[in-house]
Amino acid sequence: MNNVKPAIIVHGGAKEISEDKVAANHAGCRAAAEAGWNVLQSGGSAAQVVEAAIRVLESDQTFNASLGSTLNSEGGVELDAAMMDGATLGWGAVGAVQGVRHPISAAHKVMEDKPRLLVARGAERFALEHGLEMCAKEALISEEQYQEWKEEAEVVDRPNTVGCVALDANGNLAAGTSTGGTTGQAQGRIGDTALVGCGLYADNRLGACSTTGDGESIIPVVLAKTAIDALADGSHPDKAAQHAIDTLMERVEGEAGCIVLDRQGRIGWAYNSQDMAVAYMTADLSEPAVFTRKDKDPVHASKAEQ
Ligand code: GLY
Repeated sequence: MNNVKPAIIVHGGAKEISEDKVAANHAGCRAAAEAGWNVLQSGGSAAQVVEAAIRVLESDQTFNASLGSTLNSEGGVELDAAMMDGATLGWGAVGAVQGVRHPISAAHKVMEDKPRLLVARGAERFALEHGLEMCAKEALISEEQYQEWKEEAEVVDRPNTVGCVALDANGNLAAGTSTGGTTGQAQGRIGDTALVGCGLYADNRLGACSTTGDGESIIPVVLAKTAIDALADGSHPDKAAQHAIDTLMERVEGEAGCIVLDRQGRIGWAYNSQDMAVAYMTADLSEPAVFTRKDKDPVHASKAEQ
């Protein structure tokens, strides 16, 4: 395909980010965008790019995905993740998994196998049988999250969910999302992240989207599909993303955000939370543009915070 402009955008969640966590959010999103961009540069598929970027975010306890996830009502970590391929509309998802180091890799493997949502023990068995990295379920509980849970501390700065969308050199789009869910969630709860149309969507004819925020609000407005449908009239992804967030605010209460990439490689995002961690990279840039607030100038690695 000619004139494709490969691009990647990642998010580290829509939430309030306290001042002392801003630098870590910038660094984590930058590292994820760089990891995905390296895969794009070496000819990787959009799905491989999305997996590579989200694995970086899942490894960073700054974010609510895999290591560093928020704890549920029983003090455990249960993880949801999904991936969608815009070329085939293929998808795969896992929900309420424990002891799987990289749920996004499990979702990618499920997508390659056959489209379905696998949950709990069945998803864990699938991951084990497909050679994915397993760990003790306690290994994904960070000290900070455990202390907050033990003290029943009010959580104000948990970035909610991570995600990535990418457009590769062949013009294929993919989206992926990964989360530890909501703080104190009921054991076995699965939110929007694992649900196609809600936590993510990808269609080569239009664009790709990954969402973040309150799953119970995102699900009834089918947030990711709402954003993608808004691209159909040629709207810029910024406008489509804002339309999706406006729809959520008109119809339900809750905080959410979304990142959107269209088939031309144009980038957009919107949120109604105080902050949202985002980084994107294109061939026009020398380094990822990184944000925790959209109305501020991007932060550059060369001027990285201490
Ligand atoms: N958006 C993540 C969740 O509600 O589980």
